[in-house]
Amino acid sequence: MSFDRSIKIAPSILAADFANFGAECEAIEAQGADWVHVDVMDGHFVPNITFGPATCAAIRPHIKGVMDVHLMIAPVDPYIDAFAQAGADVITAHVEAGPHIHRTLQAIRAAGAKAGVALNPGTPAEAVSELMESIDLICVMTVNPGFGGQKFIDMTSKIKALRAMIGDRPIHIEIDGGVDPKTAPSVAQAGADVLVAGSAVFRGGSVSDPAPYGDNIRAIRQAANGTYV
Ligand code: DX5
Ligand code: ZN
Repeated sequence: MSFDRSIKIAPSILAADFANFGAECEAIEAQGADWVHVDVMDGHFVPNITFGPATCAAIRPHIKGVMDVHLMIAPVDPYIDAFAQAGADVITAHVEAGPHIHRTLQAIRAAGAKAGVALNPGTPAEAVSELMESIDLICVMTVNPGFGGQKFIDMTSKIKALRAMIGDRPIHIEIDGGVDPKTAPSVAQAGADVLVAGSAVFRGGSVSDPAPYGDNIRAIRQAANGTYV
């Protein structure tokens, strides 16, 4: 079976109603989300604190598709099993989170999840050149991690370099931060296939009025596919 490189929209629940995560996950999936992006922050690797494995386990039954867990924590290794047992399909660690990223990625796969590696804006593509056989996803940060609603930082040349580095390997390129219908075309053209979006998806909607979620997801997908008018 060929690798699915079609555009996938992964809303980030960082922009959702924290008091209603389960219903929010169901709402965005019903409105067309392909994956659900879950931002885990420890107040140490990034200057913000969100939630941990217990919250991931609590929302898992409300997600039919892919639970995409983005770990902005350091260290990572002590928590991998907990997130895998919580039901994460993809677990992404930052290459900047510690000196042993290769071991971390092996541990993620050994725990039964797909292994992702994330790159902060200041980290070059070459940082993952030795990891091609150990990863299933590369997350290119287009904001400095820690908060939603930030301004998009252009990483087009890094995305192109990674797309070339990957070749035919079954590795997703995920873009995270400031993605909306304006910024989606350039990252898709550069080779990205998973687009994370928080504020641009949850804007204007709610669990009781989810239709704007669908409009926003469609607008980003159409922009990425070059059909947005
Ligand atoms: C930031 C997170 C992102 C963030 C995206 O550190 O990793 O996933 O929630 O939110 P927007 O789309 O609002 O920039
Ligand atoms: Zn994220």
